[in-house]
Parts: sequence; C-alpha cells; structure tokens
Amino acid sequence: MRETLLTPSQLVLPLFVRPGSRVRIPVESMPGVAQTSVDEMLSDAREAAELGVAGVLLFGIPDRKDATGSEAWNDKGPVQEAVRALKRELPELVVITDVCLCEYTDHGHCGVIRGNDVDNDATLELLAREAVSHATAGADIVAPSDMMDGRVLAIRSALDMQGFKDTPILSYAAKFAGPFYGPFRDAAESTPQFGDRRSYQMDAANGEEAVREVLLDVAEGADMVMVKPAGPFLDVIHRVRAATTLPLAAYQVSGEFSMIVAAAERGWIDRERAMMDSLLGIRRAGADIIITYFAREAARTIRAGSF
Ligand code: PBG
Repeated sequence: MRETLLTPSQLVLPLFVRPGSRVRIPVESMPGVAQTSVDEMLSDAREAAELGVAGVLLFGIPDRKDATGSEAWNDKGPVQEAVRALKRELPELVVITDVCLCEYTDHGHCGVIRGNDVDNDATLELLAREAVSHATAGADIVAPSDMMDGRVLAIRSALDMQGFKDTPILSYAAKFAGPFYGPFRDAAESTPQFGDRRSYQMDAANGEEAVREVLLDVAEGADMVMVKPAGPFLDVIHRVRAATTLPLAAYQVSGEFSMIVAAAERGWIDRERAMMDSLLGIRRAGADIIITYFAREAARTIRAGSF
C-alpha cells in the first residue's frame, strides 16, 4: 500500500573536483564528503554507479580565482577533465555540471561585481561560456545555479549556436538564500567575501514568487527545474509540481545533510531512518529527482531492503 517509492535511480550524488592526482581532502563540516582530484572522484562515481545511482553533479574548485571567474570556462579545468574521464570510464552514469561562478571568483559571488552588487547582465555571457565549455567536454546536462535573471535563455542560445542543441538545461529555478548552504561553502570554498546572496537568491518567505521564477525559466527553455533547499521548502516542491509537467529535481543541500549527520554522531537521532524519511518526504512532496550527499548511503539502504 506504499504510495511513494524511492529508488537509487532517482538519486544524484554531488562531487567536488580539484586539480591534481591522488588528492582527497575531507570537508570538515560534511563528514564523509571530500574534495578530490579526478582519479579519486572516479572511484566515488564508480561506487555510485554500481549502486544504481542515476548520476553525479560536479562542482569545480580551481587552483586560481579571479574577478570574473575565468577558470570556469578553462577547457582543461577540473570539471572539464572530470566530465571527460567520467564519460570515458562510466558512460552510463549521467553527468550533470553545476554552472556558476562563485567557486571561481576571488570575491565568492555568483557573478561579476560592479560597485557593490552583482552585474546581472554582464554575468550572462560568462555563464554561457562556462556551459558551452562543459558541454564541449561532454556533459549530459548543464545546471545553472547562479539565479541571474535571463541565464537559461542566454545558455540555451549559446548551446544551440555551438551545436549543443540536444544538451538539456536543469535550472536551479527556485533557489532560496539562507543558512543551509553553509557547509557547502566550506566544501566549494565559495563564501562571499562581502555581503550575501540575497540580491539574486530568493527570500524564504516567498512561495508564490518561487512558482513565478520557475515559470520564467520554463519560458526561457529549461528542460528540468529544481527547488533548493528541499526539506525546508517541501510546500514549494509541491506547488511547483502542480505548476509544470517538466521533470522536477530537489536539492537536499549541505546544511540538511550535516544536521542529520551531526545529530546522529551525538546519538540524538537515528541516522538511517532520518536520512530515509527526509528523502521520502522530498519524493512525497513531488520531486522526481533528488540531489543528495546521502545518495550512495541511501542506495545501499534501499538495496538492502531495510526500510
Ligand atoms: C553555487 C551553489 C551553491 C550550492 C549549489 N550551487 C551555493 C550557494 O549558492 O551559496 C549549494 C549546495 C549545498 O549547500 O549543498 N551557487
């Protein structure tokens, strides 16, 4: 009589890639998560693939950051190298790349800065360049997470013009500003050096606006949309599910992961059951795809038939 099913094929594992080889640097605020070089990343991805996890979402941590984040479209950058290695070694695993500048800019914002603010329109061209570079390396899906207005259209146009008309865009369409990205910013070394992201990410109070944001991205050509974070925004997932028939992803972000892990480490909560209930809740709300740092662990639990 179970209404909601959770399978490994609905899960996507985020991975953080750095230059070099045999590098594995644990992220302190996300136990079990690490920044790795491409070779080490491959073994994590292989494990995920063997467990039936659908795909991986790649974030790059470059050696060099600058004001425009120019390493983001370096064809020899860590993400581009990782995509090529994954498509060569594990061709069945879906490779999604996060398209954003915050890991690549020295100020840590998701776009170029003019005065004290992000310059929305000047950022679009750079994001498009980054997306084309990922598609050229062989990315199956590009996923812009910057929340600039108009970026889906800009990326779609650039991809089409460069011969990537079949590369889909998974848009981080309703992405809320807030504290739940804290551990990720340790992992991706992307904490803003001044100010915050509230001029481009959404206000946690706004559910109707989230639907508007999603519909704008759909109109610009998004092929899939995402709500993020997931757990505190289950109502938004539900509303978006009703507003579009596109595939819907939800991102169980770093803070959601680390809260469960930290409470379990203290013996205050049952890790496996809290993980599974959090993921089932996201599915029940209406998400088709869940991006989660628990992807491998949850896949193991599902396959063991133990929930
Ligand atoms: C980049 C980006 C962020 C996350 C995904 N892409 C961080 C942010 O917006 O600050 C967060 C993921 C997580 O917390 O797990 N813009």
